[in-house]
Amino acid sequence: MRAVGITRTGGPEVLEVLDLPEPDAADRLVIKTAATAVNPVDLATRSGQIPTSLPAVLGWDLAGTVAHAPAGSGFRTGDRVLAMTAQLGTGVGSMAEYVAFDPKYVAHVPDGVPLTDAATLPLAGVTATQLLRSTPDRHGKRILLIGAQGGVGGHLAARLLDEESARTDLLVRPADRSAWQERRSGRPADGAVLTDLAQIESRAYDIVIDAGGAPDLFEAVRPQGAFLTITPFSAPDPASRPDVAYTLISVELDRDDLVSVADTAARGAGPRPETTVLPFEEAAEAHRRLERGGFRGKLVLVP
Ligand SMILES: NC(=O)c1ccc[n+]([C@@H]2O[C@H](COP(=O)([O-])OP(=O)(O)OC[C@H]3O[C@@H](n4cnc5c(N)ncnc54)[C@H](OP(=O)(O)O)[C@@H]3O)[C@@H](O)[C@H]2O)c1
Repeated sequence: MRAVGITRTGGPEVLEVLDLPEPDAADRLVIKTAATAVNPVDLATRSGQIPTSLPAVLGWDLAGTVAHAPAGSGFRTGDRVLAMTAQLGTGVGSMAEYVAFDPKYVAHVPDGVPLTDAATLPLAGVTATQLLRSTPDRHGKRILLIGAQGGVGGHLAARLLDEESARTDLLVRPADRSAWQERRSGRPADGAVLTDLAQIESRAYDIVIDAGGAPDLFEAVRPQGAFLTITPFSAPDPASRPDVAYTLISVELDRDDLVSVADTAARGAGPRPETTVLPFEEAAEAHRRLERGGFRGKLVLVP
């Protein structure tokens, strides 16, 4: 079978379409891949910023159809499903024609959600879900979300803009301002769309959520407030603000969270990013587009 992977680390040119044996089913659920999303972690793994054993098949997100279902798994051949693999921990990447999973980490894709869209949901959606679960009580709080226009940020914004009991400011790039002003108008949450770090008041926010990588905004948290980040490579030093509750989120496989993200998408209540589809052979082009910065929406590869 074909799989997108690397035999050495480096620039996008090290990406190859490898020819590998199909996974051994045993008691696992095998998915025939329809689409697999490209995420920043894939770029960091490919470049060597995050160490991995080689050769490696990349990818965390996948949607497709069940090719083999173990008895009692609750799935049948042909079911439409989505799944997330912790590629760095398990060495199993999603960018292959067939991928074997523990069925307990696989969920059905609701009717009406295309598989190319479903493939964009797991890593970004589950990370956002887990971050919000670990966010202190948001009632009556002043919140700053950095990077609302990103993959994870989009899921966070979709949820936070529905919460009328909090005031949520969004920090986006200047080019995203009008789109986000439009998106937040008429939504329950009060707050502004900001584009300039100079607009951010120092020590004014109860909760700062960094989904983009702006460690300087640690200073925007008021004393006894909370700072939550998902970007370990651009995170502030927690010791520099001992008066702030600091959390670095590390996403975990969780089927219930996957189901919740898929259901939210089916209700049309998720972020609805534009999905760009490229074939496996254009994986290097996909990485180049993301690496340049400024890419909006989600990019998926299809076998
Ligand atoms: N800890 C975990 O478990 C976990 C899980 C998932 C993702 N992550 C990490 O979280 C980060 C975000 O992931 P993602 O999939 O959401 O990536 P993404 O789609 O690239 O989104 C990041 C967004 O943040 C924006 N941004 C960065 N700095 C900003 C600033 N100062 N002001 C406004 N916007 C800013 C970027 O804009 P530009 O494109 O214009 O730069 C981009 O739109 C990545 O580093 C990823 O590796 C961590």
